[in-house]
Amino acid sequence: TTVEWEAASYDMGGHDTYMHKEIHEQADAVDRVLRGRIDDRFSTVHLGGLNLDAREARQIRRVKILGCGTSYHAGMIGAQMIEELARIPADAEPASEFRYRNAVVDPDTLYIAVSQSGETYDVLAAVQELKRKGARVLGVVNVVGSAIARESDGGIYVHAGPEVCVVSTKCFTNTTVAFALLALHLGRTRDLSVADGKRIIAGLRRLPEQINEILKAEDEIKELAQEFADARSMLFIGRVRGYPVAREASLKLKEVSYIHAEAYPASELKHGPLALIEPALPTVAIVPDDDLLEKNRAALEEIKARSGKILAVAHQEQEKADRTVVVPKNEDELDPILMGIPLQLLAYHTALALGRDIDKPRNLAKSVTVE
Ligand code: G6P
Repeated sequence: TTVEWEAASYDMGGHDTYMHKEIHEQADAVDRVLRGRIDDRFSTVHLGGLNLDAREARQIRRVKILGCGTSYHAGMIGAQMIEELARIPADAEPASEFRYRNAVVDPDTLYIAVSQSGETYDVLAAVQELKRKGARVLGVVNVVGSAIARESDGGIYVHAGPEVCVVSTKCFTNTTVAFALLALHLGRTRDLSVADGKRIIAGLRRLPEQINEILKAEDEIKELAQEFADARSMLFIGRVRGYPVAREASLKLKEVSYIHAEAYPASELKHGPLALIEPALPTVAIVPDDDLLEKNRAALEEIKARSGKILAVAHQEQEKADRTVVVPKNEDELDPILMGIPLQLLAYHTALALGRDIDKPRNLAKSVTVE
């Protein structure tokens, strides 16, 4: 079943679809998730709804993030941010899997449920099961007062505003920013230095402008989409920070264009997917300018040597790629927030070229409130 936003009452503001509108609202949305939360004096952030004091924050031994679909991918990015900035072991898992595998619930683990709608049944059921076992659960949620927000011990609202399109774009971005805030907050109650806190805060403040810069390249991406619209399948690759970005971009493409897409860690190419590489299977590679740049370049070379066509999303032109979409560099830890945005546009324009029902893809619902 679907939870109905009052879709009809939302103006499309001159856009043809809600997806297009929501992609273009992302700079404003990110502004909102940051607003009032940054504390320059202590190089940290205030998250009023967390209900977690400094002593409790320091006692966390692990973080486990649960979500479905796009929210799960945002959680994967969040887990990496928490490990990097707060040095707490963290991972993300589909809520649906977690809840059926009789997981060991550990009192020193902080559980975080991620959900745009706050109503996804599998996530809600996981929260209820965790609470029943005495765990502490936070919610990272968009819809205020939703079931998951109510059942959690505390949390962060991502303030993306109403998202109408079935596939999530601005809410994904805002959720990753919310996780950056949480990671910074946990980091600063532990061992993250003032200097690093300042560095991350400055990076967060650059995001809205950088998002607008990325969106200015829409015409270029639209052109690329015409080239990809006749692909039968596409491969998305990335490493560490780039991997969840590749997963989300692959999901976005399949949801709206119905083109088969598969995401793989670039490091795993040689263990299977290289067998698929041929001119008819384009690869989209996420290539951040971080310490894995050379490794990523080597992967592009492997693909090129087998005549695969490559589109790179990178911080600088990639020689081995047929085309590169250059995105602005932020701090390494925050790069994943930005790198998927051109690929939202790629999914959108590919679907448009194929005449798909972009805001309501077949067989999908905005919010899955049944098992
Ligand atoms: C559905 C939607 C996806 C969404 C997922 C989780 O499958 O089609 O776009 O990512 O549910 O939704 P949530 O509201 O929990 O983030």
